Amino acid sequence: MKYEAILYDAADGVATITLNRPDVHNAMNEAMRRDLHTCFQGLVTDDAVRVVVVSGAGERAFSAGADIREFTAPQVPTQFRESRRRVEFRSLMERCPQPIIAAIGGYAFGGGLELALACDIRIAAADSRLGLTEIDLAIIPGGGGTQRLPRVVGRGKALEMILTGARIDAAEALRIGLVERVVPAGEALKAARELAATLAAKAPVALRYAKEAVVKGLQLPLEDGIRLEGDLSTFLRTTEDRLEGAKAFLEKRKPRWQGR
Ligand code: COA
Repeated sequence: MKYEAILYDAADGVATITLNRPDVHNAMNEAMRRDLHTCFQGLVTDDAVRVVVVSGAGERAFSAGADIREFTAPQVPTQFRESRRRVEFRSLMERCPQPIIAAIGGYAFGGGLELALACDIRIAAADSRLGLTEIDLAIIPGGGGTQRLPRVVGRGKALEMILTGARIDAAEALRIGLVERVVPAGEALKAARELAATLAAKAPVALRYAKEAVVKGLQLPLEDGIRLEGDLSTFLRTTEDRLEGAKAFLEKRKPRWQGR
């Protein structure tokens, strides 16, 4: 698959998606949204990929958000419908069975932070800055930010960030739970890759069901979420890998997962 605005690489069960417009801080244009849509659509059914890492090309930005240059083009209804469809790539990310790790090195603003919010785990370099800055352009987040940010940091903090357009540093992002880890400057991708390798070595079906139980379960009332967990954990009792895990423990050796 040939992409225009992203790079894609997959090896050893880990796919790496790199937003690749470094001269504009990886600002997201139509081509990038189209590429991301195609890419995540493929990943939804790709059993060979166990974990996904998303990062930005260059040292300075994850993504500075929507390409503001496109804002000056007049909006006609057909283009508008098309770009709404492309925004929906973030919903595809939730349907991806693989855990998705954001490696945030530098700026993550607007749609860039919304992309990171659609990932499952966020690792930020110490010199990163993060914000939903749309209000300063007389718009509001349109890539899921008004919904995902409050679910991550709570209503008050999300409103504070969205209403002010504040650009917070990595230490503050860690403090409010917007990122899971802060690593030294320049090391976000390395840390994300290390975590991805750790996850890719887990039993594949258990890894997928663990994500599904948490991500889908959070969209359900508690009782239904518990039911979903019950169904998934019951199914996992039927896998060969479960038997292999128990045997490997008893035989004091490393398990050899089959993915079934
Ligand atoms: N869309 C389009 N181009 C962008 C961009 C964006 N979101 N963010 C940065 N760029 C471009 C700049 O216009 C500049 O292009 P030029 O070299 O042709 O002038 C280039 O990227 C470098 O950016 P610059 O502003 O010179 O770098 P900086 O290090 O001084 O500042 C930022 C970087 C990210 C702090 C600043 O560019 C910025 O605030 N960008 C807008 C972020 C934003 O509001 N995003 C939400 C959009 S909804």
